[in-house]
Amino acid sequence: MSRATTTTTVQTVEGSYQVNNSKLINWVAEIVALCKPDRVCWCDGSEEEFDRLSAEMVESGTFIRLNDKKRPRSFLARSAQSDVARVEERTFICSACKEDAGPNNNWMDPIEAKNTLRGLFDGAMRGRTLYVIPFSMGPLGSKIASIGVEITDSPYVVVNMKLMTRMGKAVLDVLGEDGDFVPCLHSVGHPLTNGKKDVSWPCNEDVKYICHFPATREIWSYGSGYGGNALLGKKCFALRIASHMAREGGWLAEHMLILGIESPAGEKSYIAAAFPSACGKTNLAMLIPPAGLDGWKVSTIGDDIAWIKPGADGRLYAINPEAGYFGVAPGTSPSTNPNAIATLAGNCIFTNVALTPDGDVWWEGLTQAPPPELIDWQGKQWTPDCGRKAAHPNARFTVAAVQCPSLDPEWDNPAGVPISAFVFGGRRASTIPLAFESHDWESGVYMAATMGSETTAAAAGKTGEVRRDPMAMLPFCGYHMGDYFAHWLKMGQGAKHCPLIFCVNWFRVDEQGHFLWPGYGENMRVLKWIFERVHGQAGASESALGWSPRFEDIDWSGVDPAVTPKQFEVLMRVDTQSWCRELQLHDELFAKLSSRLPKEMILKRQRLQSSFGG
Ligand code: OXD
Ligand code: MN
Repeated sequence: MSRATTTTTVQTVEGSYQVNNSKLINWVAEIVALCKPDRVCWCDGSEEEFDRLSAEMVESGTFIRLNDKKRPRSFLARSAQSDVARVEERTFICSACKEDAGPNNNWMDPIEAKNTLRGLFDGAMRGRTLYVIPFSMGPLGSKIASIGVEITDSPYVVVNMKLMTRMGKAVLDVLGEDGDFVPCLHSVGHPLTNGKKDVSWPCNEDVKYICHFPATREIWSYGSGYGGNALLGKKCFALRIASHMAREGGWLAEHMLILGIESPAGEKSYIAAAFPSACGKTNLAMLIPPAGLDGWKVSTIGDDIAWIKPGADGRLYAINPEAGYFGVAPGTSPSTNPNAIATLAGNCIFTNVALTPDGDVWWEGLTQAPPPELIDWQGKQWTPDCGRKAAHPNARFTVAAVQCPSLDPEWDNPAGVPISAFVFGGRRASTIPLAFESHDWESGVYMAATMGSETTAAAAGKTGEVRRDPMAMLPFCGYHMGDYFAHWLKMGQGAKHCPLIFCVNWFRVDEQGHFLWPGYGENMRVLKWIFERVHGQAGASESALGWSPRFEDIDWSGVDPAVTPKQFEVLMRVDTQSWCRELQLHDELFAKLSSRLPKEMILKRQRLQSSFGG
């Protein structure tokens, strides 16, 4: 017997289309009744829609159009001063049981959260347009991908989602009549009532909630217009909600870049690498091998998030759920990341960077010498000696992946790419050596789980303090970290061909505080060693931590200035005293997670302690 189909005609910016998914039709109707927007607009994902909304934002003052000759079809947005980063203290996991969210998350009771948020969303979109954004995290129709629909009152969100995801009408065709999706509700929390005039960056200065409901797989975000809080496909769906989906389904949703390495002989392997926010993931994903390593190539699948599922052959296959980059601009330059600079030639959105007198953008590090005058990220006159940064340290670019010269030909392959190695790295001034390979899966999971890193500007709060950031997932794992470690251990037990696990640290400093490792393109020397370990071609020496490259195991061809064996020894040093201190910090983390900590972690910690003579 065939079921009756509900079909509704919906309005887009320029026309209309048909929607036949009844869950979606009903959810949109419910949210429209709650939020009371003046208009409803369904996104079709077209270029015309992008242009129309961008032009409207130029008109309203949200966007400044950049000089078309220098940066075609590109825009600058300046956020409110209070809305410049993810707000971790206002981010909540609303699981029925508080313990399930773990000490790594803020928790709210789901019923209480819904009641509070319903009150806030009631009438929140008055005077505004409600946009419906269907999006796919991952290649359309991929078995590893998943669909979401974001409702937002922010046209800034719509155009960013256009660059960051596969978005629009085509997604609804994949969704079909009864396909499921993750409902993502967002409002800037700035209703235009009683003739209130709009501001260029509407948000709610006082009230912000970024709430995740794992049981119903929903996201409700209120009060912020900033990327990580408002582009709900990214951290909220692709990491916090997807981490639940992954645990249930036996896969991994990780804060990882994915890159391909090809040898001069044409062998190719893919690695996925986790680093905390603003530690150079985009630079590593787009790396150009240095002079001397001729014939080696690096290609980009993704720069921030990986969804990884076991394939029929027992290997792990990864996709990049995103379709664009929301990268940190400061520090990005023709020398640190030439591929990113080429990617940003046009069709970009910049947020909180500085504006040059000729209508282009600038940020700290883009050029060696700053321009003599600028308009800074807050719209104020700026000169090099004024004592302020021209761009906010968390200023961002948004750009579609297809513009990246190093984009891997497989980046949109629905089957994903097979992962041969996982790499974990924090920002650590001392203690952690440049590189090592873990003895086995369990030791690798231990090292990744106890990873520490200095905090950066990607989240609101103090920068520069070392905090434990397991698998670089501390702000993004949607459930108890102890359960997450257990899930990682189980993934290793279940997989026939586990990737090798490596740890790296590009950020070690000498006594004067200077970086010991040149980083950027030179990181290829470590990637090459990793590639060769994967292929059984490189040597190493054994230590308590695992297998470490010796000086002669790294290819130093063409390195300038030379890294001496003495310098390398300092970079690789595993100092007993520092490690005894480090193991105490692991203990502090474990004490916090004790109720759900897998026993393997405690045993591994004891083995390390005894190998350091404790
Ligand atoms: C990001 C982050 O925006 O990690 O990618 O903060
Ligand atoms: Mn990130």
